[in-house]
Amino acid sequence: MVLEAIELYRTGNDLHKKVITRTCSPNGGVCHNQSEYPDLRTPANFLATINAPCNVQPGDWTSVDDRCEQAGDRFMMADRDAPEVEIGHVEYIPGDIQDYREAGILPEVGSPGFHVFLREPLAIDREEIWGGGRFVRTFINDQGIIEDLPYATFTTRWWILDEGRHLVGEVRNYQIDRINELNAVGIVQGDLNRNGIYGARQERPVSLLTPGSPERSYLIGRMRGTMMGQPVAGSRMPLANQPLTIPEMLALFCFVEGLPADGAWPDMSAAIDYASCSYSDDPENLNLLGEGVTWKGRVSKVLQANCGGCHGGNNPAEDLDLRSEDAYEHLFNASVQRPGLKLIEPGNPEQSYLWLKLINDESIEGYPMPYNPLTGEGSLREGELGDIQTWITNGAIRDE
Ligand code: HEC
Repeated sequence: MVLEAIELYRTGNDLHKKVITRTCSPNGGVCHNQSEYPDLRTPANFLATINAPCNVQPGDWTSVDDRCEQAGDRFMMADRDAPEVEIGHVEYIPGDIQDYREAGILPEVGSPGFHVFLREPLAIDREEIWGGGRFVRTFINDQGIIEDLPYATFTTRWWILDEGRHLVGEVRNYQIDRINELNAVGIVQGDLNRNGIYGARQERPVSLLTPGSPERSYLIGRMRGTMMGQPVAGSRMPLANQPLTIPEMLALFCFVEGLPADGAWPDMSAAIDYASCSYSDDPENLNLLGEGVTWKGRVSKVLQANCGGCHGGNNPAEDLDLRSEDAYEHLFNASVQRPGLKLIEPGNPEQSYLWLKLINDESIEGYPMPYNPLTGEGSLREGELGDIQTWITNGAIRDE
């Protein structure tokens, strides 16, 4: 394994060209480019992920990992004698403005307006207030001096709800541009995934790539599905491509372990130091199967639960039994629908007809699986698909 890695991925450039960009093709552009953070297309883009925060531009806030959350900016009412409070999350809900006061009602979660959710109550003993909501951030300037700077103010009528933990600013038509500007500035939110845990308060946030520490590198955690012994939120990467092989993982781990501790960029044409890399002793450990993606522990259970209803019992659909004890043995038969392909071709999802049925590949006969008789469509969840793909790529091994 080590020899294979040394030969194929000798330098940082090899790693970038053969491993990192591969994870973005053949669907080049769909995964990581300028519009999707992090951009990984060039070696410089890849290096820019060193010490860079993770999940700063989540397509979907539910997939943000607590360990990526930064200490949030703070909010205060200008001209009021109340302390600043850390921002949990903000959300602009567009919609016809409601004159809540005139209507004699209070806005709610989900009402149109600019919502600011705070970590602690803002100590203002009123239900409603006209004024400037001020956003404050702590900067470290060139001289290393820490400064608290108000960087934006939004003046409107604010409703103070939930004992001061939730503020709703009215947004009239002429104020929409202002709100968009504010969002574009990128308010740092302490509880981006809205689960009540302020990640930065628990421990130092992890980075996309943390020099010396693959275990604290979110890019790697996202590929493994775990980081520091805990599951990572969101689907496994690379989503649309083959997961990394052991030599590929080894190259990435040794590259990150060998990064200069001061965050400086390494010479990408220099050889990766496999000899003193701590992961070279036992590369098998980096096998993604080591993360619980086994036949017995995972894959057989997903198939039994999602497929066994039709592919099991006395008369399984297409004579394919995915439920019984010896289900594993049938997996390497030729497909009925495409006899040129096996159902599972170890090491190669793209040549595995069962996989093609799962991802609704355009070449399949019949319906995508798991078939849903009501809609004719159906899909496993991303995490389940990712695990099955990892398992096939790593040889579709049976663990006893
Ligand atoms: C509601 C019943 C139903 C469920 C649930 C279901 N299947 Fe199927 N499956 C069928 C039927 C019917 C066919 C044949 C018609 C077709 O392919 O559309 C089939 C065909 C297949 C084939 C083609 C077999 C061959 O030899 O070419 C595969 C592979 C397959 N299913 C896998 C799965 C997997 C994996 C799951 C679970 C993730 C699943 N199916 C869930 C009913 C089902």
